[in-house]
Amino acid sequence: MASITIRNLDESAKQALRRRAAGNGRSMEEEARLLLAGLAELDVPPAAAAESVQPERVSTAPPAIAGFPAAGKRVLLILGGGIAAYKCLDLIRRLRERGVAVRPVMTAAAGEFITPLSVGALAADRVFTDLFDREDEQDVGHIRLARDCDMIVVAPATADLMAKMANGLANDLASAVLLATRRPVLVAPAMNPAMWAHRATQRNVETLRRDGIHFIGPMEGEMAESREAGRGRMAEPLEIVERIGELLDTRPKPLRGRRAIVTSGPTHEPIDPVRYIANRSSGKQGHAIAAALADLGAEVILVSGPVAIPDPRGCETVHVESAREMQRMVEAALPADIAVMVAAVADWRSKAEATEKMKKEGGKGPSHLELTENPDILKGLGHHVRRPGLLIGFAAETEKIVEHARAKLDRKKADWIVANDVSPDSGIGEKAGGVMGGDRNRVRILSRDGVEEWPEMGKREVARRLAARIAETLARQAAKA
Ligand SMILES: Cc1cc2nc3c(=O)[nH]c(=O)nc-3n(C[C@H](O)[C@H](O)[C@H](O)COP(=O)(O)O)c2cc1C
Repeated sequence: MASITIRNLDESAKQALRRRAAGNGRSMEEEARLLLAGLAELDVPPAAAAESVQPERVSTAPPAIAGFPAAGKRVLLILGGGIAAYKCLDLIRRLRERGVAVRPVMTAAAGEFITPLSVGALAADRVFTDLFDREDEQDVGHIRLARDCDMIVVAPATADLMAKMANGLANDLASAVLLATRRPVLVAPAMNPAMWAHRATQRNVETLRRDGIHFIGPMEGEMAESREAGRGRMAEPLEIVERIGELLDTRPKPLRGRRAIVTSGPTHEPIDPVRYIANRSSGKQGHAIAAALADLGAEVILVSGPVAIPDPRGCETVHVESAREMQRMVEAALPADIAVMVAAVADWRSKAEATEKMKKEGGKGPSHLELTENPDILKGLGHHVRRPGLLIGFAAETEKIVEHARAKLDRKKADWIVANDVSPDSGIGEKAGGVMGGDRNRVRILSRDGVEEWPEMGKREVARRLAARIAETLARQAAKA
């Protein structure tokens, strides 16, 4: 189709077009194209007309994933010029399959890495690239782009783009939109570790944080373009999607005003200054539960044993080593409405912790290690004068799972026990070793009302469902009181 010069339309037509375009969240040029292409169907409503003249919009829509907190929202995605731009094709797809509309803006440098054609096809929208676009700027397009969205995501955020943002530059479409917006902005930096660590970049990051800009990453890892490793990798598309969901989540927060204590990870029980007794717990399930409770508005104190995963957002995390330290910190965090004891606390510790490294004595065989029982944190809470309102324990079992979990429920005076099969051959997840250390879980919830079996799912999903169940239970209790 020939290009459309909106400037040449008469004033009333221009105004009508402007109103119609604004109503449909499109540029004037795009609206005009759709009107012309759909002349025969001008009587049908605009949304239907758009579908009828742009069948590719329907066919490129990926299958829907229900229940995403930002479904129905509009994200303006600004793509910067870095290798990680290729990951944003997946980001667009992931957002759209969750019901989020994506309007892309590409910097000139981004166009060196991926094509506007791919970006536009996946977004099913026009790709905006030019600040001085004649048609768009009749309508002050950069201001409209800055306003007609629920949030802006900058990914990959180059060192250059962040420097522009921190200094209020507006010499291209991306930076002008970023300066003109009042919407929340999430930045996903990606760059060489030396660029990220540079004091200039760090100064800019600090300024942007102070200005209320949200960040995700960069992560540690190997760089795509070199053999270098370090902090600089862009967060993975699904991590960015999750953060967008959190930032646009306007659902009610049923746990607001509630205080929760969660334990997570293993404990390390010292034998001597260099050795300890431990287990294979990764902390993934406990950390996910802490995050899910915080998402629902709870004030969460997470007492974590030594783990290799980051502290969850929105929680106060206390790091401990041994069971005794964990017990002290849990008790110091009381009172609480909710306590979820997920940590795989060691049952025993060495009776006498050696102050010097124990020596191998030739020919005498292995040293004898005398063990003593550790405090039972869950039982301690169950019998505590300040017992949390809802006390939940986890039972990691390898056999007779329900039987053992039920005994634990009674012995420890817990309200629920979440039982999981941690045997290496449980068949859960793809990795050998099953639940411990993996990303998936299959749990049974035991309470005095019976046993509920949940199907195998990701640990985050288990966490979300458990947090929702906790919220429902507390709401029911509050309604009865
Ligand atoms: C091969 C190549 C890879 C690059 N990768 C990155 C990168 O990952 N992060 C970054 O900040 N800059 C990177 N740059 C530099 C940017 O492309 C350059 O600073 C550009 O001006 C950024 O423009 P923009 O911020 O408008 O997108 C790269 C350059 C080249 C040639």
